[in-house]
Amino acid sequence: MKTQPFLAITSGFLAVASSLSAQPTLKEAFKNQFLIGAAVNQRQFSEQDARGAAIVKAQFNSITPENVLKWEAVHPQPDEYNFEPGDRYVEFGEKNGMTIIGHTLVWHSQTPRWVFQDAEGKDLDREALLTRMSNHIHTVVGRYKGRIKGWDVVNEALMDNGMMRQTRWLKIIGDDYIVKAFEFAHAADPNAELYYNDYSLENETKRNACVELVKKLQARGVRIHAIGTQHHNKLASPTLAQMEKTLVEFSKLGVKVCITELDVDTVASSQRNTSADVADVTRQTGTDNSQASGLPDDLQQKQAQRYAEMFALFHKHADKIDRVTLWGVTDADSWLNRPGRVNHPLLFDRNGKPKPAFDAVIKAANPPTIPIVP
Ligand code: GLA
Repeated sequence: MKTQPFLAITSGFLAVASSLSAQPTLKEAFKNQFLIGAAVNQRQFSEQDARGAAIVKAQFNSITPENVLKWEAVHPQPDEYNFEPGDRYVEFGEKNGMTIIGHTLVWHSQTPRWVFQDAEGKDLDREALLTRMSNHIHTVVGRYKGRIKGWDVVNEALMDNGMMRQTRWLKIIGDDYIVKAFEFAHAADPNAELYYNDYSLENETKRNACVELVKKLQARGVRIHAIGTQHHNKLASPTLAQMEKTLVEFSKLGVKVCITELDVDTVASSQRNTSADVADVTRQTGTDNSQASGLPDDLQQKQAQRYAEMFALFHKHADKIDRVTLWGVTDADSWLNRPGRVNHPLLFDRNGKPKPAFDAVIKAANPPTIPIVP
């Protein structure tokens, strides 16, 4: 097959660029635009994974805990909190002068069953569940008051069809459970930024549902600082136009936007599923190990191009965006690797080396100016 000249030049440039050690870091490149974050796991923030920790320190100025502050991890039993990992996470961020994010307080997933039940295993009533939610939020947010800058208060309350997700929270408390969660979080740390976080917000139906949800929260006096749009993306979906529309519509609500969980799935058979529902993704156990021995060069370039275009869009709308966080550090850490499905969704490869996508992102921070010829 004949290589198109443009692609040949692009890939040549990217190959050379990735070997340059004088590259600026991500956080330097975007310092006047938005924070650049990474979701970190325990091995990274405890520095057991020294290479991962070094990348985080060098490249990122914000961190989100991949798992350790989720309910099941931080509050595994009714009377038992496990703050040890959360404390280390926050210390790591403080030691390195990072903006520390909390994730996540109220979610349908990774939340133990007992949360919704009494000691006999019967469903709690509204008041009892509100009390439990309030205690959890006050305890967790309160512990890191003034240290964690902002919290994903409610995660994924909407469905792809725009309806409210029928979670135990909704069924037992009613649809003001979101208002309550924000009120508790605000009371626990009045200076913390509070976010609503969800996936597939680039799809029109879900975008509109989120706009309505946030308007309702605002009408109830809820203080919401930003909408977190996860961006678990594919190579071609969502489109840039969809992403741009979401950025613009959300910003009209008077809130900031955070890109909270960015990655670009490269596996061929994932490209058909345009939802980023964790349940759907984790069900994708079908084997597709076509990338087990590495990301083929054409896909490497395609992914770089995709990252370049997304960051060019974020650059264009930097006034609306507070933070862009990648969901992981190297490809080896990503949640998108499943048994029989090796994936390459991030900016650093399995050896911790910057990929062509990394160079493309750095380039997007300073788009070339076109000289005006007199
Ligand atoms: C969702 C959650 C994250 C994480 C990812 C997959 O997007 O918000 O905490 O669990 O799924 O790992």
